[in-house]
Amino acid sequence: MIKMAPSLLAADFSRLAEQIGRVEAAGAEYLHLDIMDGHFVPNITFGPPVVAALRKDSNMIFDVHLMIENPEQYIGGFIDAGADLVTVHAESTPHLHRAIQMIKNRGIKAGVALNPSTHPSVVEYVLGMVDLVLVMAVNPGFGGQDLISAMLPKIRTIRDMLQTAGSPAEIQVDGGIGIKTAPLAVEAGATVLVAGSSVFGRPDPGQAVREIRKSAIKEQDQPRK
Ligand code: DX5
Ligand code: ZN
Repeated sequence: MIKMAPSLLAADFSRLAEQIGRVEAAGAEYLHLDIMDGHFVPNITFGPPVVAALRKDSNMIFDVHLMIENPEQYIGGFIDAGADLVTVHAESTPHLHRAIQMIKNRGIKAGVALNPSTHPSVVEYVLGMVDLVLVMAVNPGFGGQDLISAMLPKIRTIRDMLQTAGSPAEIQVDGGIGIKTAPLAVEAGATVLVAGSSVFGRPDPGQAVREIRKSAIKEQDQPRK
């Protein structure tokens, strides 16, 4: 089943609760929360207090995408704030295994994210621990960029690695996803679709969630190439 993960980065920050309500009512399963520190990526967003405030208004899976240096220092704070899933970038820590262990030890789901230039082999020895692999289809830091098409074969490679390992982990694709690109990502093996500007950049974000899902489900019905 394809899951939708609207990214709040593209929402109107002056009325977050209202915007979240619209995608939740449309059946989006995840709420993708992009955490940026101005160091790991050249942009700054928000921290645990905002996540905790939003938690009161939503039952969606809170999917925290950490794009920060020294993630180990902040993992606990985001879990206390209500994260259901925390994803760390493989490039953000020399101790990826430890960071994932810290998340799993708190009893929530853990993800590992890869920048576009990072080889899939870096996740090989943590595949058994993670619930999700996030494939960045753009360079992290900003919404509204075009999907890098070389990330489609990378999704296929990760799908094959998971299959070989017998892992049920989700493959999340993040960046440049909309009605045209969602089917391509799903055909390659993505199961969770992050969509920022193609959802919150539209006048009706709920309708956008439904349309992107529909485009992707059509693709899922096709035989695998
Ligand atoms: C980028 C973030 C994405 C971003 C995607 O660094 O990780 O989640 O919101 O935005 P779109 O869907 O507009 O490419
Ligand atoms: Zn993201």
